[in-house]
Amino acid sequence: MAASETVLRIPLGSLSQSCYLASFFVNSTPNLSFKPVSRAKRGLRCTNSHDLSRVSTSAARGDSFHGSNCALRGKKLVSNICKCQKHDVEESIRSTLLPSDGLSSELKSDLDEKPLPVNGSVSSNGNAQSAGTKSIEDEAWDLLRQSVVFYCGSPIGTIAANDPNSTSVLNYDQVFIRDFIPSGIAFLLKGEYDIVRNFILYTLQLQSWEKTMDCHSPGQGLMPASFKVKTVPLDGDDSMTEEVLDPDFGEAAIGRVAPVDSGLWWIILLRAYGKCTGDLSVQERVDVQTGIKMILKLCLADGFDMFPTLLVTDGSCMIDRRMGIHGHPLEIQALFYSALVCAREMLTPEDGSADLIRALNNRLVALNFHIREYYWLDLKKINEIYRYQTEEYSYDAVNKFNIYPDQIPSWLVDFMPNRGGYLIGNLQPAHMDFRFFSLGNLWSIVGSLASNEQSHAILDFIEAKWAELVADMPFKICYPAMEGEEWRIITGSDPKNTPWSYHNGGAWPTLLWQLTVASIKMGRPEIAEKAVELAERRIAQDKWPEYYDTKRARFIGKQARLYQTWSIAGYLVAKLLLANPAAAKFLISEEDSDLRNAFSCMISANPRRTRGPKKTQQPFIV
Ligand code: GLC
Repeated sequence: MAASETVLRIPLGSLSQSCYLASFFVNSTPNLSFKPVSRAKRGLRCTNSHDLSRVSTSAARGDSFHGSNCALRGKKLVSNICKCQKHDVEESIRSTLLPSDGLSSELKSDLDEKPLPVNGSVSSNGNAQSAGTKSIEDEAWDLLRQSVVFYCGSPIGTIAANDPNSTSVLNYDQVFIRDFIPSGIAFLLKGEYDIVRNFILYTLQLQSWEKTMDCHSPGQGLMPASFKVKTVPLDGDDSMTEEVLDPDFGEAAIGRVAPVDSGLWWIILLRAYGKCTGDLSVQERVDVQTGIKMILKLCLADGFDMFPTLLVTDGSCMIDRRMGIHGHPLEIQALFYSALVCAREMLTPEDGSADLIRALNNRLVALNFHIREYYWLDLKKINEIYRYQTEEYSYDAVNKFNIYPDQIPSWLVDFMPNRGGYLIGNLQPAHMDFRFFSLGNLWSIVGSLASNEQSHAILDFIEAKWAELVADMPFKICYPAMEGEEWRIITGSDPKNTPWSYHNGGAWPTLLWQLTVASIKMGRPEIAEKAVELAERRIAQDKWPEYYDTKRARFIGKQARLYQTWSIAGYLVAKLLLANPAAAKFLISEEDSDLRNAFSCMISANPRRTRGPKKTQQPFIV
């Protein structure tokens, strides 16, 4: 057995109650054993006795899935015809996760009623239309439905891209957690709830699955970056196949990056599901509550950090390659904050969770303060940095992070408008990443990590810098691109992330939906309307690319996939929300009064003085 196939496993055999898992991960130190697990023995599985197994990425209608069995390999979770039957104690812990409704999903019946438009004959609202006259929205719905992946006969996600002409699929045939969010929201807005519920519950099962890289396992709460439904022959019976859910936690991903954002997005989607459907039974389940707590435990674990921001490696989010965002990137902080707020809303108070809730509340306040104070950048702040004293050793330092004014990049001086501002990309000792990162800024508005004034200022900034951030196609993932030596050193000469391409200043249509939620929240939907209008001019014609290249986003990205699902879903969510802005509220978190009070107490207490020496003492400088 290869070393990489050897994993540390937590024995669950002696557990006696289904609720044990919650307290197990929250309270106890697991008794670790060293047990070899072959890769083929991993993943959730579903057996098909009549070789009916398939991953449907297109029209799955009409297939029979009778005789399917679902099983969690290694943990022996077994079900019959996708109806879970308790098999042993281990099963009982997780068996409640499986949707018991088999084929009766709303989505499936919807698909049954509306055959996929091979010749474009059916519109998303059921109206017959002739080929060639379909609206962009109808086409997008058709494409989104074609990207649906089925497992045990139930829809559980959407593949990342469905490009029929792509020669190298890589992992774009997988269901990515982050990519599914706009798909899930589009389905929620359409009233098709099953796929989202299934996605939430199946990915939850993958959460605590054994995962290793060279004998090392990441934390238990980690959610995979993606998963794939695989059809494999059944052990010992060639006439049968089974479907296996095979997750990738980063151990196969390019660069072996850990998907820190997956669990955070999962929590955000879970809350959106409850708010949109009114069905709180999913978030109230013991296993789901446990899942939330496991993610929180992982994120709130004590470490060496001086900052309340989450410390991560490069490539741990939407930008999943080396782009110099290791440390405390804004995107992760915005999602972290938002996930904490959502979790706070959903956690059911119970014995044993008081410490976790306390830690969560403390972190929310500290994170909020830290980002609003230290990440904020506008003309006034640049001028402050420009005049910073350095090497201040004291509790009262103004330049706490010892930022050298020479770090202010030349592009920024002219770029910053008089009105508006934004949250910088990253903050570390002696380092401010002044680049503008869209997702982090937009989600800071949505989740109220940015204050009301800051949120408006970010939108002012976007409006003022439209030609740079939007140009011909919304929306630049970051601005500006790294070039020359900086690109060479920071990306490691990454040929995909050349200047103004892909993650390095490329334009990503999927960001339309976050822009829409943010502008609706601030009562400025016209910003999103303008962006959607622009996208509509070419996105369908260009076959829904993953990203666009060049400073003005004029070219379809060099290596961009076509029919990229989150480009399609992002557009749909933007359209649906602009048509019904009230629906955005299930994605938005308004700042609650408790937090506002705690935050203003913190400001008025002036943290510079709380631990500082008495006034009579002189700060000393080394
Ligand atoms: C790229 C993107 C990542 C996305 C994946 C699948 O790797 O950087 O954010 O999840 O493609 O679309």
